Amino acid sequence: MTAQSPLTIPMEIRPARMRFRKEIWERTQGWRSDVDATVEQIARLLEVKDREGVGKAVEVGKPDKIYGYLNDPRAFFQALLAAQAVRQQDAVSAYHKTTATLVQGEVMIANQITVSDIKADIGSIGGHIKPGISVVEAVRKYVEQEGVNSGLLRSFFVSSTGDDISILMTHQRGKLDETIHQLAWNAFLVGTEVARLEGHYGAGQDLLVDAPAGNVKGAGPAVAELEFVERGAEPFVSFGADKTNPGAFSLPLYLLSDPMYNSGLILADNMRPGYTYRILDLTHKGEDKAIYLNTPEDLYDLALLLRDTDNFVIESVFLKATGEQFVAVSATRLHDIAGKYTGKDDPRMLVRCQGQFPATGEVLHPFALGHLVAGFMRGSHNGPLMPVKLNGTISWFDGPPIVTAAAFSVKNGILTEPADAFDQPFWDAVRHEVAQKAQWIRRQGFFGAAMLPWNELEYSAGPVRKMKALQSRFTLERDGEPVGGASGSRKD
Ligand code: F6R
Ligand code: MG
Ligand code: MG
Repeated sequence: MTAQSPLTIPMEIRPARMRFRKEIWERTQGWRSDVDATVEQIARLLEVKDREGVGKAVEVGKPDKIYGYLNDPRAFFQALLAAQAVRQQDAVSAYHKTTATLVQGEVMIANQITVSDIKADIGSIGGHIKPGISVVEAVRKYVEQEGVNSGLLRSFFVSSTGDDISILMTHQRGKLDETIHQLAWNAFLVGTEVARLEGHYGAGQDLLVDAPAGNVKGAGPAVAELEFVERGAEPFVSFGADKTNPGAFSLPLYLLSDPMYNSGLILADNMRPGYTYRILDLTHKGEDKAIYLNTPEDLYDLALLLRDTDNFVIESVFLKATGEQFVAVSATRLHDIAGKYTGKDDPRMLVRCQGQFPATGEVLHPFALGHLVAGFMRGSHNGPLMPVKLNGTISWFDGPPIVTAAAFSVKNGILTEPADAFDQPFWDAVRHEVAQKAQWIRRQGFFGAAMLPWNELEYSAGPVRKMKALQSRFTLERDGEPVGGASGSRKD
């Protein structure tokens, strides 16, 4: 696109590194005020014949219109794509034209994108095994219609891990964006309706409030988000785990700081400085209670905290040298949100890979351990984490706990198809070992380490009540005789 582009952007718009929110919208006011001229220019730029569609896009681009979220030029231009009534794939070339022009005019930061991975269990078939195809399809269609065709999203991908549905979205609205979160929430509501109609089990299970006020964090769904300026080539992995909690990702993330697993710490100069971990104390309700620890220097303190996988959980990891975030984990505890136990908080995790970050294979390496995690049947047991293929299901003893890994590349916010990182013969051998390990711990049934402590048991109210009843039947004895003449509970 040349400077003589039909779309002329006022020269005074120069803050190329600024974030584009309301301020920029206001500064482009003059340029947008002549709607007819704008429609004409845009239609020519995009080679769109349907002027009416462009006109509509210009209308919805106004902040006071029904789609109030379109309050910045980036969103505005995404709406233009929608005006062409094109679908994701066809939109790519038109998208490139508009972004190139905007970047050239310094109206837009090139390639600043947000990846949002939002998941919920909204019902499953045959027990807590997997969501129905009809439900996944309802969610996917809703996101396509309301997200892509409206121009809100760059692209998206819907998948499942056990009974959880993940909506992975790319956009330019930043983290914790209300509109993006509401889009996911509404998609889950639509899916829940289908699940209810077809009698799926636990329909709407993770939608814990009637309608979340803003973003959905704390309302039931798990959220992992990363915002970054895209590199020339941008690989990342979207992980999901079922029948376990966010602490399941702590061991693999800790091992990023161990050269026994992460060879880049020895071999790649740009990886030597180490990482900063943000750890949340999940026992604290309300605000985030966070601590930042650096490796290698704080490694032992990190170990001390992470030993407790239920309460201290890695939520983000940053490069210490640059502060760039490359890991995001959904770290929440549903039973603190719902006020009662509603199942384990099956987590999501996003990890940017390669270059200055660990290689994809280094990130995957620890998952071959099949480490023991909390969850499994009734969220109340320890079991080894099994890496499975995308859309994998659970089975034996409602488990074992599983993890999926969809590796993507993304360019200008457009996702490639996923590479299923655990769909490779090596992982068959791992799965075999994990299955054996799972049977090994299951052989001791409810005893000791096979089951979780009291406060982590699912439906703990029942067992607590029964324990109280049993407590009242205990008597104190000395030398086989009741103390103080109290009558014993023995039935003889
Ligand atoms: C664990 C899980 C399942 C259920 C179990 C009983 O998080 O979802 O193991 O706890 O299948 O389910 P309900 O109580 O729904 O019959
Ligand atoms: Mg579930
Ligand atoms: Mg689940």
